[in-house]
Amino acid sequence: MLGIRIDGLVHEATVGERLIDLINRSEIKIPQVCYHPQLGPIQSCDTCMVEIDGALVRACATTVSAGMSIKTKSAAANDAQREAMDRILSNHLLYCTVCDNSNGDCTVHNTTKFLAIEHQEIPFRTKPYEVDNTNPFYRYDPNQCILCGRCVEACQNVEVNETLSINWEDPHPRVLWDGGVPIGESSCVSCGHCITVCPCNALMETSMLGHAGFFTGLPKSTLEGMIDVVKGIEPETGYGAIFRISAAEAAMRHSRIRRTKTVCTYCGVGCSFDLWTKDRHILKVESFDGPANGISTCIKGKFAWDHINSADRLTKPLIREGDGFREATWEEALSLIARRLSEIKAKSGPDSIGLISSSKCTNEESYLMQKLARAVIGTNNIDNCSRYCQSPATAGLFRTVGYGGDSGSISDIAQADLVVIVGSNTAESHPVLATRVKRAQKLHGQKVIVSDLREHEMARRADVFLHPQPGTDLIWLSAVSRYLIDHHLIKSDFIDQWVNGFDEYCKSLEPFTLEFASKRCGIPVDTLKKVAAMIAEAERVCILWAMGVTQHSQGSDTSTAISNLLLITGNYMRPGTGAYPLRGHNNVQGASDNGSMPNNLPGYQSVDDPEIRARFEAGWKVTLPSTKGLDNHQMVDAIEQGKVKAIYLIGEEMSIVDSNANYVGDAFSKLEFFVVQDIFFGVTCQYADVVLPAAPSLEKEGTFTSTERRIQRLYEVFEPLKGCRPDWQIIQDVANHVGASWHYQHPSEIMAEIASLTPMFAGVSYERLEGYNSLQWPVDPDGSDQALLYTKEFFMPGGKARLFPLSWQEAPEQPDAEFDLHLNNGRLLEHFHEGNLTYRTAGVREKTPDTFVEVSPELAQERGIKTGTWVHLTSRYGRVRVRAVVTDRVHGRQLYMPMNSIESPINRLTSSHTDPVTHTPAFKEVSVHMGVLPEIGDSPLPRTNSRWGHPTPQRGVEVDRKWQRADYHPPGSRLVQIQGRHGP
Ligand code: SF4
Ligand code: SF4
Ligand code: SF4
Ligand code: FES
Repeated sequence: MLGIRIDGLVHEATVGERLIDLINRSEIKIPQVCYHPQLGPIQSCDTCMVEIDGALVRACATTVSAGMSIKTKSAAANDAQREAMDRILSNHLLYCTVCDNSNGDCTVHNTTKFLAIEHQEIPFRTKPYEVDNTNPFYRYDPNQCILCGRCVEACQNVEVNETLSINWEDPHPRVLWDGGVPIGESSCVSCGHCITVCPCNALMETSMLGHAGFFTGLPKSTLEGMIDVVKGIEPETGYGAIFRISAAEAAMRHSRIRRTKTVCTYCGVGCSFDLWTKDRHILKVESFDGPANGISTCIKGKFAWDHINSADRLTKPLIREGDGFREATWEEALSLIARRLSEIKAKSGPDSIGLISSSKCTNEESYLMQKLARAVIGTNNIDNCSRYCQSPATAGLFRTVGYGGDSGSISDIAQADLVVIVGSNTAESHPVLATRVKRAQKLHGQKVIVSDLREHEMARRADVFLHPQPGTDLIWLSAVSRYLIDHHLIKSDFIDQWVNGFDEYCKSLEPFTLEFASKRCGIPVDTLKKVAAMIAEAERVCILWAMGVTQHSQGSDTSTAISNLLLITGNYMRPGTGAYPLRGHNNVQGASDNGSMPNNLPGYQSVDDPEIRARFEAGWKVTLPSTKGLDNHQMVDAIEQGKVKAIYLIGEEMSIVDSNANYVGDAFSKLEFFVVQDIFFGVTCQYADVVLPAAPSLEKEGTFTSTERRIQRLYEVFEPLKGCRPDWQIIQDVANHVGASWHYQHPSEIMAEIASLTPMFAGVSYERLEGYNSLQWPVDPDGSDQALLYTKEFFMPGGKARLFPLSWQEAPEQPDAEFDLHLNNGRLLEHFHEGNLTYRTAGVREKTPDTFVEVSPELAQERGIKTGTWVHLTSRYGRVRVRAVVTDRVHGRQLYMPMNSIESPINRLTSSHTDPVTHTPAFKEVSVHMGVLPEIGDSPLPRTNSRWGHPTPQRGVEVDRKWQRADYHPPGSRLVQIQGRHGP
């Protein structure tokens, strides 16, 4: 600690602390327009000038040092601050009362007020540019842009999309997209970082414009007239009077604008943010300090919320009548469900009924679904869609280290010296998490190895890109492991102390020579040696993987191979290390954590353990079934076999997201009774007997658990649409109609029950999760949680991890003369899964209107295919018709099709082959025939899609170029000492 004197008083600072952080922490007020703690010092505004030993310095760029004495309010400092602000105002019209950004938190407004600037010395000058409205989600007004560069810093070094720059050498600098094209034609991925950090109204969400203020919705001509009036009175009244009016108007806005914290409903990163709403209109999503995401969002979390108020929402229960449906009352629908389930149970037994929970629903809802299955219906036939993606990763971790979750946090991934990404299109599937890797690589020298079939963004950024043959990751991972062992490049001390099973594991590696790996995977031996050397040399290694690993017939084994590799290299138990299966859906982790699994009660407590069952039986006052139930894959087979006769499915478009969709649909049509609960009438509803209208995440309370095991609360932003009910209420209604007597008034009561029965969640409570607080399980009764697992021991018998021996088998589904091409598939940044939610946001639909198949340039030439050519893809299981996109993202005879289609879903082509350990379908093992059709359409990726853009990577704002301008001189009359940049 250091003692630092500020304005005569001594304050305690930490060594290396930024002066501006110390000043803010000490609650001393100084202006700081361009500084944002999550961006670090940009040094473009000069408003944070303070005096140290007679010299003026920027507080944001100064590191505290022993003996420093700082004056924040000296005449010299104050003159410099005011001069700097005056320059800013020459770039910005203060028309606050009619500005949608004047909500009490505008940095430019508040700084002008704080410095009591009454009149501008330097007059406002317009810039010779038009407002850019070419992005559907936000607009840029160059005339309001103060050139602080926050947006550029955020885009270059937080999001690392590298779209934005400022043309400092131009007579009229402005922010540029891709060096100077309209936003809508640039590489901008609409993540929203730039808008979130803009300190004024230069960048604003379109959804705010004309809606936030009382006067801002006036016609443009009237507004411009009012702006002229405001400017007209300024010379006489000064800004003080204008600010008093705008402050009163901003206070009035608070009475009608609600800010409600929620957690993103899309991917498993777990971004949290405030939703600003006026009645049912979403003004904006504001992220500022989410524990997982900080200021970050992606296009979906920031903008894709139009499904909430979609006219297509289900608002009444529906009951099948012949080939159609009729609207029904809740009581009628619930009574019918109770009667049919009771009849089927009486006739065919409880195991003739299956329940499928949702990874989009809350933890509390998952818990109630499995309680309904077990305690009310009396079956363990309960599962969730982690069966389709995440179960193999969990199995691999159960086998080796004990907990089925990421071993650390996103911050550990950022700290790692080396990140290995296997089978994950992270920049599109987990966009905000990917930014942490991109930033660490760009700014802090992190190394990145990517193994993937596709040359996606992370592959292009990688230091080493491996392009193995489909489904062969297990081989190269095992060969690298063997090479490390053979060359004594492993951490023997760590293995001796913490790992069992080394000898048996070594024996299992015998077939995995580099030569075999090179031959079967198609990776040169030297590249494999390089990968091994990079892993051995790195102090801290994290391995990330996703569906490119798990959705294979050896998904569990490949996940195990990853964990084995981490164990032999000692990459567990320390910050910056570990295994990170990237969970796909917002609550796919929580759905399994809370017991929607056929073999586990909440907290992965086995159903066949009598002690555990006894605890739940005492808590629920019932007798529980003791044999493992059917998973969702087995349930479909059991329907075909006539064993399962009724299904209750919530929040899952199962008939197109399950593999071999034709087979699944056929099975659903054979059910005696089928209840589907959702917010839209999807494809699966067509098979239902009863459809129940549920409420989306913004219309309910509860918790989600993200990929880093982080439990976070979501609050009700809107009341449920009339006629809809939150899922937890519906499940309770169904349970009570079937004979239970549940009386939950609020999800917090359900969480209290979960905590009382589940040691892993013993200390979880709504009080501890208040606001932006979060907990990463396991959580002890005293509320202490574990951001990093295994710091004391592994969660295995004896506290030791276990190396799990593996062997290799060829996948059952292989190309042949007829089905000669390999079809890969996965997510697209703009859409979530099949697109049921995201297609309902017009801007998303505009940018990515349809699915497509990616074809390599060489294959396109061979088959005479152009971007836009229609093709038929035919597999052994079905056929779809799509347009081609010719791109070098795919190579040779490998195709790629994103999942986002309801009309041509990829799963019409996938098979029923599964990973034998978890029954996860081998979605990624598809062989197809491609028939070229005569029609050529437009490109399925319109010109406004970011993939056509040309980013302009640079160091950041590059403010030094501003300082080199002939018209720039530091504000204030004394010497300015500029210290070097240092990142946060
Ligand atoms: S990618 Fe687009 S929205 Fe995201 S920070 Fe860059 S310019 Fe802004
Ligand atoms: S658009 Fe960028 S440079 Fe302009 S004021 Fe906003 S954040 Fe600053
Ligand atoms: S989709 Fe994922 S990355 Fe995007 S905002 Fe939501 S949680 Fe964050
Ligand atoms: S806050 Fe802008 S230069 Fe320091």
